[in-house]
Amino acid sequence: MIDNDTSTGTGGFGEILVSSRSLGEYRAMFALTDDDLGRRILDCPGGAAGFTAEVSQRGGDVTACDIAYFDKGVDRVAATAVAEADRGNRYVREHADAYRWTFFADPADHHRARRESAEQFAAHTRSSPRRYVPGRLPALPFVDNSFDLVLSSHLLFSYADDLDYEFHRQAITELARVATTEVRLFPVVPIGSPGRYEQLEKLLAELSLAGISSRIMKVDYEFQAHADEMLVCEVAAQASGGRSAAV
Ligand SMILES: C[S@@+](CC[C@H](N)C(=O)[O-])C[C@H]1O[C@@H](n2cnc3c(N)ncnc32)[C@H](O)[C@@H]1O
Repeated sequence: MIDNDTSTGTGGFGEILVSSRSLGEYRAMFALTDDDLGRRILDCPGGAAGFTAEVSQRGGDVTACDIAYFDKGVDRVAATAVAEADRGNRYVREHADAYRWTFFADPADHHRARRESAEQFAAHTRSSPRRYVPGRLPALPFVDNSFDLVLSSHLLFSYADDLDYEFHRQAITELARVATTEVRLFPVVPIGSPGRYEQLEKLLAELSLAGISSRIMKVDYEFQAHADEMLVCEVAAQASGGRSAAV
């Protein structure tokens, strides 16, 4: 399980990447509709994604939350976002066979898109810093039911070598606590793995007992090979205090 910082070694990837996916990638990964984009959204972990900037420019209401904003300060995350996009692209080039080249035409296209997103993120953190809230799963700084839709990409399941089962259970319970209706997570395949997170069935059964029902949905996006499914957790909105934090 991750401790006080993000420097844990992970699945051969090195330090957890503060990556920068775009609205286009989020739309595809999470099967987001225009209606979804009109809801109050939490993106956790937000990393250096351009998603919050792009949806805000469309008039949407998105908050990004990440441990990196807390540890390093959002200004420093912004200053290093493009370098992180370069680091991520180096990994992708070195492991090009582990990726499907359909969403991105080739590694150069991936590099261009991620850098562009990192730049959008950096500019938006300067104009709208309050959209970027420091937070560390599995305990978020929001009251119950603060958001309609919670999105979580490329932390849970991705880094399963370093984040243990209990972290996954507590983190999803916490993401559900701050959502009125839905939490969507992508992908359900650890980095470098050919299949779903091994303890997924056990985890979903345990969440179900806690009142969080879930389903796996295939999406029209596969970049990491075999990673083309999202987990949708449905939660019934309760009065504040009805669902308690998992920590
Ligand atoms: C691979 S990035 C994903 C960012 C974004 N969702 C995207 O898809 O581009 C993983 C992020 O998880 C963040 N992170 C790691 N541990 C965390 C924790 N316990 N709570 C919140 N964020 C965490 C890292 O700082 C990093 O920005």
